Amino acid sequence: MKIIVTGGAGFIGGNFCHYMVNTYPEDSIICVDKLTYAGNMETLAPIMEKDNFTFYKTDIADRTAIFELFQKEHPDVVVNFAAESHVDRSILDPAVFLRTNILGTGVLLDACREYGIKRYHQVSTDEVYGDLPLDRPDLFFTEETPLHTSSPYSASKASADLLVLAYVRTYKLPCTISRCSNNYGPYHFPEKFIPLMIANVLNGKKIPVYGKGENVRDWLFVEDHCIAIDQIIRKGTAGEIYNIGGHNERTNLEVAKTVLHELGKGEDFIEYVTDRPGHDRRYAIDPAKIHRELGWLPKTPFEEGIKKTIAWYLENRGWWENIISGEYQNYYETMYHNR
Ligand code: NAD
Ligand code: TYD
Repeated sequence: MKIIVTGGAGFIGGNFCHYMVNTYPEDSIICVDKLTYAGNMETLAPIMEKDNFTFYKTDIADRTAIFELFQKEHPDVVVNFAAESHVDRSILDPAVFLRTNILGTGVLLDACREYGIKRYHQVSTDEVYGDLPLDRPDLFFTEETPLHTSSPYSASKASADLLVLAYVRTYKLPCTISRCSNNYGPYHFPEKFIPLMIANVLNGKKIPVYGKGENVRDWLFVEDHCIAIDQIIRKGTAGEIYNIGGHNERTNLEVAKTVLHELGKGEDFIEYVTDRPGHDRRYAIDPAKIHRELGWLPKTPFEEGIKKTIAWYLENRGWWENIISGEYQNYYETMYHNR
């Protein structure tokens, strides 16, 4: 199989490329990435020289470039990870989210129509469902939960999902969609909560907790997400949506305390800062469908995954220190100064 993976120089796409290149030497993995601030060739360095891996620096919203690529490569499968992915950045500047997340998805779908495809897979998020109240632990997102977005990021991802479903219905394009909960693990960009906390603590800085730290996220180790997507593209049914998550709910404060404990630091490292506007309260996935239909269940409990993640950041200081020494400093100042 020839598989185009977009956004493969980012966090989850990068982990997916590693997983696929190493698990399926007979398949050809073609990574397509614009290399925005979030894309990092160092993430791909361990697989760059592999015979079954190719990299193209290309923007998914560039119709001419994407069509030329499809004409040259004729992929069997496309897995679209490429996106602007950070809620806080979408609040600062929504426009690029609409371009990449919606128009970029539209370009890929059109290329799939033009050149033919066995499967197009859209990597979506549980954030398209909006949030759940904190006082109803019995409620979970299912694939039937209505779309009800809160941030420009989640609105752009929901728009892309609707476009994919329209191409399924109108053009009979064989697509699947997965909606996953918060990921964590190696190669996670340090603007996101868990790697930001680890990087801050290792640099002797406090960790900014929004509001009272009561918001709940459902954390999934990134390799479990990669395995789920692999199973969906091989065994999932075209036209279907699959929620991915593993009942690993934690408040942000609990996660912060766990990270501090693992790093041998006290709670005095916590700094409560002004809350995110429109901050979603709780995300919680019901993964019954993917378990029932594809037999998928997460393998890594949070306690084990967070240890592995912290160990990776300790062993790979160069990877994240390069990031936080550059342009990222300006973002950090804008987002956290006087917050
Ligand atoms: P990320 O920000 O780490 O990586 C995104 C990648 O996409 C980067 O390599 C970037 O260079 C690339 N990219 C951005 N715009 C592009 C464009 N126009 N053309 C080509 N490449 C472009 O994101 P991530 O956390 O790895 O998320 C990957 C996908 O998974 C996204 O679609 C996101 O919505 C979804 N998702 C993420 C999470 C999570 O917890 N991180 C959870 C559920 C779903
Ligand atoms: P984040 O990693 O940005 O993912 P998402 O917003 O997609 O869930 O944030 C995870 C949670 O952590 C979210 O509730 C916001 C909170 N948070 C903080 O408290 N402080 C921070 O500095 C960041 C980046 C996030």
